[in-house]
Amino acid sequence: MKIAIPKERRQHEKRVAATPDTVKKYIALGFNVSIEKDAGKASQIMNNDYQDAGATIVDDVSSIYKDADIILKVQKPMMASEGELDEVSLIKKGTILISTLDPMLSPEHNAAYAAGNIAAFSMEFMPRISRAQSMDVLSSQSNLAGYNAVIDAAHHYGRAFPMMMTAAGTVAPAKVMIMGVGVAGLQAIATAKRLGAVVSATDVRSATKEQVESLGGKFIMVESDESGDAEGGYAKEMSDDYKRAQAQLIASTLKKQDIAITTALIPGRPAPILIDDEMVKSMKPGSVIIDLAAPAGGNCSMTKPGETIITENGVIIVAHLNVASNLAADTSALYAKNLLNFITPLVNEEKNGLNIDWEDEIIVGTLLTKDGKIVHERLLQEQLKEEN
Ligand code: NAI
Repeated sequence: MKIAIPKERRQHEKRVAATPDTVKKYIALGFNVSIEKDAGKASQIMNNDYQDAGATIVDDVSSIYKDADIILKVQKPMMASEGELDEVSLIKKGTILISTLDPMLSPEHNAAYAAGNIAAFSMEFMPRISRAQSMDVLSSQSNLAGYNAVIDAAHHYGRAFPMMMTAAGTVAPAKVMIMGVGVAGLQAIATAKRLGAVVSATDVRSATKEQVESLGGKFIMVESDESGDAEGGYAKEMSDDYKRAQAQLIASTLKKQDIAITTALIPGRPAPILIDDEMVKSMKPGSVIIDLAAPAGGNCSMTKPGETIITENGVIIVAHLNVASNLAADTSALYAKNLLNFITPLVNEEKNGLNIDWEDEIIVGTLLTKDGKIVHERLLQEQLKEEN
């Protein structure tokens, strides 16, 4: 069986879905591996690195897609409506596509995978069970995004992070507030602490209190009987009463902060607004907001996804759309390993192909389309909602 890794063609995407290390492992599992020429270049992996690992470099994009039995990507393939190249139409019937596919916002793509008889696996839908932890791309990418958010904040902040006592005077430590303490938020707390900041954090899930405190941060939370916990470690949308109390709490805390890093997400919903216009106006000039929720609309009402802006009162709001791509060498390595961990248990004993248990929780959780049909429960429910 042939695994193919095409070059990522979407704007700002520097990552690649395989590394020389994972290529070697695929070959040991009995696969042939083809890499599109320069697919790894933006992740600092050269064609000869892949060749040395045993892969074949292919210059022609249509043959990389057409000859593949399994295609590994970082982002969903392009369609004719999106640019010059219709990658989806190049994929032959029966091919397995493994990638992040942004399925809830990509009905046209999902329909095209079904029409093309492609077995499309969406890695964002990985169930949050311990067996799947090493396959969880949201975790691996968020971790580095949380780190990058702090580095980015330090870059934009015109002052130092740690307290410094010098002969010429004392520099006060930066006050950093993290909103949303999932994978990215926890890494942001740890990184900001290491740089010497005074860190506080908030979340709607009560389990996060202990995690924040174990990293040396101060936990701030609305006092309420309402729990923000939803299935799989995710958060749910809170009641209007809770939101009002949370807004008051954030308003009183935020004006004393120098930096806010927001990461709050609710699966399948726009990101909750945690910082409104008034709160931004209450912040000091030179304060920085890094909005990691920008791809889902943002946690700040003044966020402009994809842009860095300075408000009238001098607050810098940074809203990158693909933070993981900023650290492509590392995020590619982790992403590639997640895919390898997903594929390895599917390989049959003879090492000449796959033996997929279509009933397995991990397969059912991630498979969008098969045998010409959309099969994923969440997508089928969305279709029903639209029909009614
Ligand atoms: P996420 O990216 O979905 O959300 C980020 C954070 O924002 C979450 O902590 C969430 O509670 C918080 N949030 C949502 N709405 C909020 C609001 N209105 N105000 C304040 N905070 C709000 O979450 P992420 O990073 O994917 O992880 C959530 C949990 O899942 C973590 O505890 C993590 O350890 C767990 N997890 C488990 C995995 C496994 O067992 N395989 C894999 C990945 C994560």
